[in-house]
Amino acid sequence: MEKIEIITPLSKLEIKKYYQIRFEELRKAWKQPYGSERDSIEDKCVHRMIKIGDNYIGVSRLQYNTKSQAQIRYMAIKKKYQMKGFGKILIMDMESIAKENGISEIILQSRESAVQFYLNLNYKIIDKTHLLFDEIQHFLMRKYL
Ligand SMILES: CC(C)(COP(=O)(O)OP(=O)(O)OC[C@H]1O[C@@H](n2cnc3c(N)ncnc32)[C@H](O)[C@@H]1OP(=O)(O)O)[C@@H](O)C(=O)NCCC(=O)NCCS
Repeated sequence: MEKIEIITPLSKLEIKKYYQIRFEELRKAWKQPYGSERDSIEDKCVHRMIKIGDNYIGVSRLQYNTKSQAQIRYMAIKKKYQMKGFGKILIMDMESIAKENGISEIILQSRESAVQFYLNLNYKIIDKTHLLFDEIQHFLMRKYL
């Protein structure tokens, strides 16, 4: 069996793959332009990526909102690798990084299709929020660590 690793993308190739997965899984199907998979605070966030052997298969970002609250954004596992437990591994990695940095609360905006995934990881629905690209209903969710 090939090695499963969670890394921080650092090399040119890793960074390219990282944003590529975001774009492919979170933007392309909604005809969003290249660049829409990034925002203005990337350099202040923690970036994590899961790989199997030489294949990069999923990404996620942790941003610090306050000293005690962090937010998970841009969480995506490549279609072919979904529902195999990799998303769960990546969230657990983000939660442990958050905890090590004194965070006691994680919030996130979940797409409706991912709500059950986060419920399974003990996040609770706080509110029904925005419609992204006029069609993807989001829900604010929270977990106390
Ligand atoms: C949502 C997503 C990140 C989940 O990652 P994943 O690797 O497919 O999920 P896992 O295999 O780790 O699932 C963990 C648990 O959640 C459940 N689950 C995952 N996705 C689910 C879904 N869409 N509906 C219902 N249950 C789901 C799994 O059955 C599993 O349950 P278990 O703990 O009882 O075994 C992934 O499917 C994805 O990237 N989707 C497209 C992009 C996206 O929507 N990102 C989230 C933006 S908010």
